Parts: sequence; structure tokens; C-alpha cells
Amino acid sequence: MRRPDGVPAEISHRPFPPGFVIGAATAAYQIEGAVAEDGRTPSIWDTFSRVPGAVAGGDTGDVACEHYHRYREDVAIMREIGLHAYRFSVSWSRVCPDGGPVNTVGLDFYSRLVDELLSHGIMPWLTLHHWDMPQALEERGGWTSRTVVDRFVEYATTVHDALGDRVSHWTTHNEPWCSAFLGYVGGQHAPGRREPAAGIAAGHHLLLAHGASVTELRRRDPSLSLGITLNLQPIEPVDATSPGDLEAARRIDGQFNRFFLDPLLRGHYPDDVLEDLRPFGLEDLIAPGDLESISAPIDVLGVNYYHGDAVSYRPPIEPLDRRAPTTRPTGTPYPSAEGVHVHSRGLPRTAMNWEIQPEGLTTLLLRLHEDYLDGSSTRLWVTENGAAFHDIHDVHHDSVHDPERAAFVQAHLGAVLDAVDLGVDVGGYFAWSLLDNFEWAWGYGQRFGLVHVDYATQRRTVKTSGATLRDIIHAQALITGGPTGERP
Ligand code: FCB
Repeated sequence: MRRPDGVPAEISHRPFPPGFVIGAATAAYQIEGAVAEDGRTPSIWDTFSRVPGAVAGGDTGDVACEHYHRYREDVAIMREIGLHAYRFSVSWSRVCPDGGPVNTVGLDFYSRLVDELLSHGIMPWLTLHHWDMPQALEERGGWTSRTVVDRFVEYATTVHDALGDRVSHWTTHNEPWCSAFLGYVGGQHAPGRREPAAGIAAGHHLLLAHGASVTELRRRDPSLSLGITLNLQPIEPVDATSPGDLEAARRIDGQFNRFFLDPLLRGHYPDDVLEDLRPFGLEDLIAPGDLESISAPIDVLGVNYYHGDAVSYRPPIEPLDRRAPTTRPTGTPYPSAEGVHVHSRGLPRTAMNWEIQPEGLTTLLLRLHEDYLDGSSTRLWVTENGAAFHDIHDVHHDSVHDPERAAFVQAHLGAVLDAVDLGVDVGGYFAWSLLDNFEWAWGYGQRFGLVHVDYATQRRTVKTSGATLRDIIHAQALITGGPTGERP
């Protein structure tokens, strides 16, 4: 790689701590397809993606990357990149159609996938719930109903019965903020409701389902590594001397980060968040014993990091528009932050209009380490990080040259190493995503993969970013500045 003035950039070589795991992540609905095969019934995303105007281009996960049928090819690509681990999610509707009893044919798919991974020396990292609750359960109230907690524990134990002998790393939910707040408050995600009180109930029940299933899996096998993945953001006031901006940052930090972190890791909701959310009935939902259950010890706190935000009560001069190009009406996902605006900090942006801020990841990991995990045995893992860019598939050479994504991954791995240098224990890093896939309300319009997918032919092509990660894994060090990744 050369600098714009043609001088070769200096090569830097930063070793990873011993045992540092590098992997890639996906989620069931985003890649599997085969939505009506082998007994699978609809999830809330099958239903939502069919609602007119809910997903850009009317896209659905019906076919996606056909991973259900092409998983062997996909594992071979992981092997080629040299991934140590693969983070995937299980489709609840495939394993327990309609949320009911076990469908062994559906469960067998994950058993075959796990065997394939293990036979290639790749560690399976399993997420039980990446947003795709069975539609039949949504019809009985979904996450707003407390009874769903028991259904989730039954589902978790069903999956554990089949895979517990081969999978050691288990996380309950991926990004419960999105399920609760995008799904039930803002309506951007399935099930597409716009009811703040329902979103708060969903958030509490997601936490309860997490705690109850961790306790049950731990009882069955104390050797498992158990936890949850949260999406977290460093939130800053636009003007740190403005009381209004500080108040805006407090509210968003409360309703985005601390709503989940505090009950999980401190055993209580923060006082200011309880106060902000009082009109929506959070306190009335909490039964005796709930917070003890939610704060059951965990081994793993998965952090999904994409960017931080700067917030203010003043409207920005140039709004930072990050809405998906959909036509169905949506609202703010924050139940109690009326009048708060996100301001651009003038940073470079991805194709999602997300600001690129690698040092935010260092700040975030340090905060978690100092404020929440000091002295605890819970280990931090970056379970998702990545970027969408407008890739160009050179069909003639069958190549995708995506130096921006390669640089994004390098910069964020550097940010993780900066945190490690400051004394934070981080177990590993998963790039989002292995494959281009169904990006929720954005449909197939946004590509996050290290591997390009031609949706017409299902051909996979490792991008420059995938080759860069391969070189990094091979070197067991973060290499930047050299001619990395230029031989996909
Ligand atoms: C995260 C989701 C993941 C993917 C990335 C871009 O919020 O967990 O499924 O959509 O964003």
C-alpha cells in the first residue's frame, strides 16, 4: 500500500495477546434462506419483511445466501481465511417451530454445521436469539409477555441438548436493545410496533429470558462459557460545557447502554433511567427476584461496536440521516428523549452514514472494564464490528477491491489492541460479517461482508478485506501499512 505521494507507508506489526481469537459473525435470518424447509415456520422477520414498505426494495430473507444448503462451502471459505472462530445464530423457528416442541430435522442442520466447523478446527460460537422470534409467539404478545421467558428457556435447553457436547461458547441474545427499542418502540424492526410501554416490557423480559437461560445452562454444565451480546455506544455531549447537551448524553446513554448493562452487571436498573421511564411502567414490571436472576454471573460480555454518537438538544445544522430507505412510518426508538438530536462530528462515514470512529471502541472497552467489570471474571469480546461500503464486483477478474473496509477492520483491531495495552482483557474480535447478507430494514442494499455474494448466482468471492484479515491471522499480528490483502 502506498501513501498518496507514492512513498510506501511504514509497515507496523503489532502482535495480538496470546490466544486472541479472530473470527467472523453472521445471523440465521440474514444468511440461511430455506425459510419454509424442513419444518421451519415463520419468524417475526418473515412476517415483517412482507409488510409493504417495511424493508427497502421489498427484500426478504427467503433465499438470502442459501447458507442452509451451502454451509459446507461457507465453512471452507472460513478455513481459507484462517478464522479461529465463527459466530452464528440459531433460528428459533427452525428448532422450535411456532415456539413449540423440538423439530429434530431443523436442529440437525446446526449439528452438521458445528461438526463441519470442528472438523476444520474452527470454534463454534453460538447465539440463541438474533432477533428472529417465532411469529406464533409474537401473536401471543411476543417479548411484551412474561410467559415468553419460559418458552425461551425451553428453546435454549433444546439447543443445548443437541449441541452442548460440542459448543462451549453460548450467548443468549444479540443486541436486545434492537429487539426491544427498534422492534417495539420505533417500529424500524420486526415486529414493527410503536408502543413505548411495550418496548420497555420487551426489554425487561429479554433480560429475564437471558438470566433464566444462563442459570439453567449453567446448572446443566458449569464448564460452559455463557453470556450475552450488547450493542453499545460511547455517547458524548456535543458541547461538554452545555448542561442541556450533558443531559441529552445522560438520557441516551441511559436508554441505550445502561438500561442493559446495569441490571446485568450491577443487579439493578439505574435510578435516573427508572425515573426517565417511569411513565412507561418499568418499575411495575419488576417482580421479586427478577434482578437477581438477570444478574446471574456471566463469563462473556459480547460488545458490538459500530460507532459512537454526539448528542444535543439543539438541532444540528446538517442532520445525520441514518434512516433506511423504507416508506412505512417509524418513530424514535427512545421512549424518553424527546428533542434530543444526533450531530455529525465531521468524521468519515460508511455507506450507512455511520461515522467511522475507531478510538470510540477503545473508550468503550475501557469504560466497561473500569466501571462494570473491575474484579469480575466476565471477559470482554468484540462480537461484531464492520462496515458497509459501496463495493464494486469486478466480474471479469471476479474480485472486489474494498480497501476502505480493510482499513476499517485494521483500525478497529488497533483500537482493541490500544485497550489491551491499557490493561483491558479482551478475548477476541469477530468481524461483521463473513458474507454480504440481508441487512434488515435495508434489505440487500448494504454489503458488510468480507466475502462478496452475487445474489443471482450465489457465487462467493473473498474481498480484499477478507484477504487482509487472512494475512493478519496468519501473522498473528496486526499488520498495517504494507501490501496486505492485495492477493485475494
Ligand atoms: C448489528 C446486527 C447485525 C448487523 C449489523 C450491521 O446491529 O447485530 O445483524 O445487521 O448490525
